[in-house]
Amino acid sequence: MTDQQLYELACQAMERAYAPYSGYRVGACLLSRDGQTFQGCNIENASFGATLCAERAAVCHAVSLGVRDFSAIAIVGSASMAWPCGICRQVLREFGADLRVLIGHAGHGFQVTTLKDLLPNSFGPESM
Ligand code: THU
Repeated sequence: MTDQQLYELACQAMERAYAPYSGYRVGACLLSRDGQTFQGCNIENASFGATLCAERAAVCHAVSLGVRDFSAIAIVGSASMAWPCGICRQVLREFGADLRVLIGHAGHGFQVTTLKDLLPNSFGPESM
């Protein structure tokens, strides 16, 4: 799986976003260390606080299928680079600080960073 392919899978997931309130669609695709991919999209709610981000939807997808060991995630926004929110950074951190993170804007490419850069000095399972 190349970075470009992972980005394209996130773009595909973005097309399935349910975002009638913000209009901002987000897609994510997690890559497990054994090469499986798990897509997610943002799912908004009339009770705004119940909205689920795309990254957390992808994590729920993978973990529900018994997969917890990830090497990368691509996150794509419909109107800008999709920098992950603080809650999603922490949720991703739970499953490893060494994750590569591709931040994309649909139709405009992506850049590569790491979860360590996005969430330095993080608190995780090893901290307790
Ligand atoms: N959103 C995500 O899916 N991921 C993030 O990390 C940031 C925000 C979604 C939530 C909401 O549906 C829309 O983007 C606008 O906030």
